[in-house]
Amino acid sequence: MQEGGISRRTFVKSTAGFAGAAIVAGSGLLAQNPAQASSQATDPIHVVPFDFPKDFLWGSATASYQVEGAWKEDGKGESIWDRCSHTVGCVKGGDTGDVACDMYHRYKQDIAMMKQMGMKSCRFSIAWPRIQPTGTGAVNQRGLDFYGRLTDAILAAGIRPLPTLYHWDLPQALEDKGGWPNREMVNYFTDYAQILVKSLGDRIINWSIFNEPWIFTAFGYWRGIHAPGRTDEKEFFRSVHVVNMAQGQAFKAMKALTPNLQIGTAFSTSNCEPVTDSPADHAAADRMHAFKNTLFLEPAMHGRYPKFTPDSSGEDLLDIRSGDMEIVKAPLDFIGMNYYSRTMVEDEDANGAIHAKTSSGKQGPLTDFGWEVWPDSFHDLLVRISKEYLHTPIEVTENGCSYGDSPLTDGSVPDERRIDFYRGYISAVGRAIKDGANIRGYHAWSIMDNFEWSEGYSQRFGLVYVDFRTQKRSIKDSGKWYSRLVMTGTLR
Ligand code: GCO
Repeated sequence: MQEGGISRRTFVKSTAGFAGAAIVAGSGLLAQNPAQASSQATDPIHVVPFDFPKDFLWGSATASYQVEGAWKEDGKGESIWDRCSHTVGCVKGGDTGDVACDMYHRYKQDIAMMKQMGMKSCRFSIAWPRIQPTGTGAVNQRGLDFYGRLTDAILAAGIRPLPTLYHWDLPQALEDKGGWPNREMVNYFTDYAQILVKSLGDRIINWSIFNEPWIFTAFGYWRGIHAPGRTDEKEFFRSVHVVNMAQGQAFKAMKALTPNLQIGTAFSTSNCEPVTDSPADHAAADRMHAFKNTLFLEPAMHGRYPKFTPDSSGEDLLDIRSGDMEIVKAPLDFIGMNYYSRTMVEDEDANGAIHAKTSSGKQGPLTDFGWEVWPDSFHDLLVRISKEYLHTPIEVTENGCSYGDSPLTDGSVPDERRIDFYRGYISAVGRAIKDGANIRGYHAWSIMDNFEWSEGYSQRFGLVYVDFRTQKRSIKDSGKWYSRLVMTGTLR
């Protein structure tokens, strides 16, 4: 997920006044920037041939609410996304994840398809309300058994499982107790993480704690774009700190149970680029990098918050109490990076804690979601994060694009623009490796078209087309192209 192209639903009752960054549409300043003007001459999607390492972890990603369906089967509790999608005005077209791709029932065929495509890694997420229907207390064994069967099927296909503990489907009962701004969430989440490691830790080595903590706190508690649809800046900052504590405490509890686990988080990331060469815009871009890219990474790796404000006001917003900064520490074994597009930044001293204003890039072609395609920015951020975090292994946990191409009468799905997107971004990964970044895996978002949050089924991100009336899957041309890449490891 990223910011551009998101439209607010009527679910949002009011607009938050934010003392942070002002997010604005394109400002027209780019044309005045000499650095930008010169790069305009180059092809945004340039491909440098590259042979990826033999053991590179090629895969694809999904998330429970987006693909599973079966929203109230086998004892599952209600999640905040069930509540949102059943609320008029929350999701475009009134779409819900009640059925989605029906993967809860079709996982065997879907994993067989991944195997046929040559996938080496399968990133999926676990729905907390299947495991603990109200978020605390007794385990719902039938929910846990589902993930046991899913894991066994993935392993039997010779694929590495990479589960995410939390990809946004919070039990509604926990939201009713205050949601992520509530400090008690740290213990609730740790209990949940321990249940999963006790049950699956013998078979699953690699785990991702959160998916995009910046997005679910900012969109859920401040911007009101995602469930639970709140619009309170203070709650957003409180939730940032609570989520950091939950990440740190869960990490330590999981390691205490099974020390050989490899644990990371999948962060939303976006290269933050100054709109002009002025020192003020460069400084603003660095603050935005701290705010958007390392707000949950720096506390884990170094037990401190990155400096996202020009003064010392940032930490005051977070409600940090004595002892907390020990809890947030979690020396992650790998850094998961979800990447979609870059962020243009300019200094803005009129208001706000961050003193920066953002817009999307305007030079590259746009996807059907309106997101700019600019692979060089991905290269630059991969190299930067690898260097800043001392070459901790990086896994690209998501990268992909939305295009609406649908099947022709012969059943084929020609989606050249998606192939171009992947060629460009995967070339950026190859070039980053060449430039010293330590990257061990790449997951396409997504294996198949699915429920795209507040956009419902209107945005198609899949390598495989899903007909949501019949649940028929058709591998798109991009899926065939990716499969060949995965099998050979050679980008041409
Ligand atoms: C996210 C997710 C995915 C999205 C994808 C496209 O970042 O929002 O991890 O659930 O579907 O990013 O927006």
